[in-house]
Amino acid sequence: MVEVRVCIGTSCHLNGSYNVVQGIQQLVEEHALHDNIDLEAYFCMKQCECKGVSISVDGENFRIEPEKLNEFFEGKIMSKL
Ligand code: FES
Repeated sequence: MVEVRVCIGTSCHLNGSYNVVQGIQQLVEEHALHDNIDLEAYFCMKQCECKGVSISVDGENFRIEPEKLNEFFEGKIMSKL
């Protein structure tokens, strides 16, 4: 099980966290990964000063731009399965 946490705090919300959450849910659906990915929303991961949306994968923190989600999903999430 890969733990994925997406920040939905104010700064990340303004940078597109809603789209990131929706996008991950859609990718999980497309790849039938419900039993493999544990997705949760978090409030402020204390990285607001950076561009993009904060996301952590098994405790490793990243900042991503919503339009690069597919690339991130394959490279950082699916690669752990
Ligand atoms: S609001 Fe997302 S890191 Fe602060």
